[in-house]
Amino acid sequence: MEELDWSNLSFGYMKTDYNVRCYYRNGKWGKLELSSEETINIHMAATCLHYGQEAFEGLKAFRGKDGKVRIFRPEANSQRLQSTCNGILMPELPTEIFIEAVKTAVKANERFIPPYESGASLYIRPLLIGTGAQVGVRPANEYLFIIFVTPVGPYFKGGFATTPYIITRKYDRAAPLGTGIYKVGGNYAASLRASQEAHAAGYSAEFYLDAKEKKYIDECGAANFFGIKNNTYVTPLSTSILPSITNKSLMQLAEDLGLKVERRPIAEEELSTFEEAGACGTAAVISPILRIDDPDNNHSYVISKDGKPGPVCTKLYNKLRAIQYGDEPDLHNWVTIVD
Ligand code: PLP
Ligand code: COI
Repeated sequence: MEELDWSNLSFGYMKTDYNVRCYYRNGKWGKLELSSEETINIHMAATCLHYGQEAFEGLKAFRGKDGKVRIFRPEANSQRLQSTCNGILMPELPTEIFIEAVKTAVKANERFIPPYESGASLYIRPLLIGTGAQVGVRPANEYLFIIFVTPVGPYFKGGFATTPYIITRKYDRAAPLGTGIYKVGGNYAASLRASQEAHAAGYSAEFYLDAKEKKYIDECGAANFFGIKNNTYVTPLSTSILPSITNKSLMQLAEDLGLKVERRPIAEEELSTFEEAGACGTAAVISPILRIDDPDNNHSYVISKDGKPGPVCTKLYNKLRAIQYGDEPDLHNWVTIVD
């Protein structure tokens, strides 16, 4: 293989050698299959195409200085996928199959795992779709679970650097009792227009407010929000945001660093009180926030006064990355080593 420019990878799709597939038929999951096909052949009346029976996940594998490959919190992704399956009436994939499939996909594409020095990683994308034919609005009786992997660099330009964000008031991503807590494609379809407008206006991403009162910060299109003030890590409690595994990990690391942790609704005006803030997720890791503009309200909340990532964001980022790459002990048992 031509040597890849590992340090300059973007967050995009690159063909790798294999993907892993598992079919659900006659009420049970089959055996894992390794495939080198990039395409799938499905019925035109498959429920994933018409009624959005589609769930996905996102996690990463990292190559350490010691040469070992570490997968970050795959059990948590498996549990979230199961929760999504419950949410949109798809059969739950057992955790043993999920973990086995992740390990198999990573091992089979070992040559695509970026070297330690590059700071890049292997993005793992599991997806589960309804493949059975239906015309009435009801769940399918057949499903396909696939995992593909692709090497990636930073999701937001510049990696760990402050960038501006915008509050969108024109669009909602998810309703309070809707599917925001699940990782389903429809939530991302709902965010495409707002996201494109935000990018066109020079912002990294759009923040949504709670859809009911338009008062509280929910999250971005692809990452959770957290703010830091008075030695406290504050992150929204909301029924319409995705339970981020990165955010959950950062809450634990913040506590380990001696910070208080608060999960509660964050009113938009409170943004002016944060000393630091970030968007966090598997793809985003921590993306420190420069400022958040609310043009429809004629307001701009400047978070980073000197334009640099703050000390707490920096500590959390370094700590998380050190655990993921195996530079520091994995005290919380988050890492699965592939052997
Ligand atoms: N929120 C949304 C809408 C996302 O798409 C993601 C990405 O998965 C996250 C938050 C972050 O979640 P995680 O940290 O589990 O990747
Ligand atoms: C992730 O962080 O894994 C995501 O899924 C974000 C985005 C690429 C959808």
